[in-house]
Amino acid sequence: MCGIVGYAGKNEARLVLLEGLKRLEYRGYDSAGIAILGDGIIVKKAVGKIRELESKIDGVNLSGNLGIAHTRWATHGQPSEANAHPHSDCTGKIWVVHNGIIENYQTLKKWLEERGHVFKSETDTEVVPHLLEEFYEGSITKALQRVVKMLQGAYGLAVLHQDEPQKLIAVRYGSPLVIGLGDGETIVASDVSAIIRYTKQVIYLNDGEIAEINSSGLKILDFDFNEINREAQKIEWDVSQAEKNGFSHFMLKEIFEQPKTISDSIRGRLVIKDGKVKLGGLDNVIDKIRSIEKIIIVGCGTARNAGSIGEYMLEEYAGVATEVEYASEFRYRKPVLDNKTAIIAISQSGETADTLAAVKEGKEKNILTLGVVNVVGSTIARTTDAGVYNHIGPEISVASTKAFTSQVAILALITILFGRQRNLSLAVGKRIEEELLILPDKIESITRQSEKIKKIAEKYCHFNNFIYLGRKYNQPVAAEGALKLKEISYIHTEGLPTGEMKHGSISLIDKNFPCLCIAPQDSVYEKNVSNIEEIKARSGKVIAITTEGNDQLNKLVDDVIFIPKTLEMLTPILSVIPLQLFAYHVAALRGCDIDKPRNLAKSVTVE
Ligand code: AGP
Repeated sequence: MCGIVGYAGKNEARLVLLEGLKRLEYRGYDSAGIAILGDGIIVKKAVGKIRELESKIDGVNLSGNLGIAHTRWATHGQPSEANAHPHSDCTGKIWVVHNGIIENYQTLKKWLEERGHVFKSETDTEVVPHLLEEFYEGSITKALQRVVKMLQGAYGLAVLHQDEPQKLIAVRYGSPLVIGLGDGETIVASDVSAIIRYTKQVIYLNDGEIAEINSSGLKILDFDFNEINREAQKIEWDVSQAEKNGFSHFMLKEIFEQPKTISDSIRGRLVIKDGKVKLGGLDNVIDKIRSIEKIIIVGCGTARNAGSIGEYMLEEYAGVATEVEYASEFRYRKPVLDNKTAIIAISQSGETADTLAAVKEGKEKNILTLGVVNVVGSTIARTTDAGVYNHIGPEISVASTKAFTSQVAILALITILFGRQRNLSLAVGKRIEEELLILPDKIESITRQSEKIKKIAEKYCHFNNFIYLGRKYNQPVAAEGALKLKEISYIHTEGLPTGEMKHGSISLIDKNFPCLCIAPQDSVYEKNVSNIEEIKARSGKVIAITTEGNDQLNKLVDDVIFIPKTLEMLTPILSVIPLQLFAYHVAALRGCDIDKPRNLAKSVTVE
């Protein structure tokens, strides 16, 4: 996810654009750039945070009333000045900033190069200005109307052309864009946080709409050039909340983003008719993967919990022997590794020192290393032999939520890839993919229960101990839910395999030591019910997570949260959501600093 800003109006564009970028920095912060149209076009770019760009333009005459700017979250190509936006055509007259992914950019790039276009970056974005150059006949709006029909994927674009100095164009298709209507000025941005200090009158562009902004005002067109009338809306938030799109914490925002981030994680990667997947980042090792007979998954914290779900998936559906290891422990073992072993390293930040050390240990032994990483160009992404990016945008809150569900979804895709090279049938591969496609709606049906879960949190927020229980695919979810609760509410919480409870921990249970049991109606449901009975027999309070429509537990437990039915292997993507919300509401009720919990850091780059 990136942040884009455009300005056209009576004031200096530079000030509004830089301030807007700072407001959008949470969306991506590996590089930034700005283009101002004054006497000519001046463009400046810098690697790193916005302040690097500011120091680069300090003292430079960047005067002009029209401009575009961008803060990058790399998806294609390392963070570098060459890859930073804005990007231009061959003439240097057309400049573009982009948020999203152009999925068919390789085909377009090849077509353009055959027509003599010279590319200066590795990005998908750069095909847009060159296409505009191809079709420009005096109107950048008309050229854009032709170009958008060639693009596949998701994009929010802001465009300017040196020969049309009063015009700024914005396009929305799959990536958000909002237009602020100020007094003698118009601002385009990825979200309202870049606009709200100038105006609260906004128009949210819809997919398939082009906004043509010039000194006389704003015109909105569809892709067939029909003019559309749109009413402005008033923003109700204050500036600080706007950065969180109205949520009180980034953690809650990221929990609610999960329908979209699951879609983003699988977008362009399903080949449903063949029950196969397309993971471009593994193309260079696809034959090597065929010979793999053992997988070791390494990660830390949440990433390791996701890896534990991958272990069940890969063994059950790909038939590959798999084990999961704490990355911080991996190198102290003498693991039996050979050229038929692969390591899968999971890391949201791609900078976790323990996980990086495990990857390096594998490379030392010439083992195939694969990454499941969110931050493009991060150290782990660059160190592994190949990998799959999450494409879910920056995860700001220290407590990982959307990264976990994305990691599980991507492990399902990797399972299909390994499985379809082995004995996984087309029908089962297809079935898993069809279920992945409808998961976002099922996630949404759970996030809609947030207020109900808050009521349950009010009953339990004063306890200082908890045990979370789950079996099979939900055992790692119990561990993940326990991690969430402890890291943001500071309540001591253990996550255990349900069956393990009776081997010691049950001694802890009494009316002051509640349990949460993940008990969907799956292959181990009856066993979970027996364990719940054991807890109740010891006066323990129980919160149960179970499948909607199952009213058997209502009389047995103290509180029930329902989740939709899905494939057993994908249940973790749903069963974790109530645990994320429960942890959030308990921490909020306890007055904790949810986005920045004490003692923690978002990325642990020390061992
Ligand atoms: C999760 O909520 C924690 N913030 C932490 O356990 C985290 O998952 C762990 O440090 C791994 O981080 P990574 O995914 O960036 O490697």
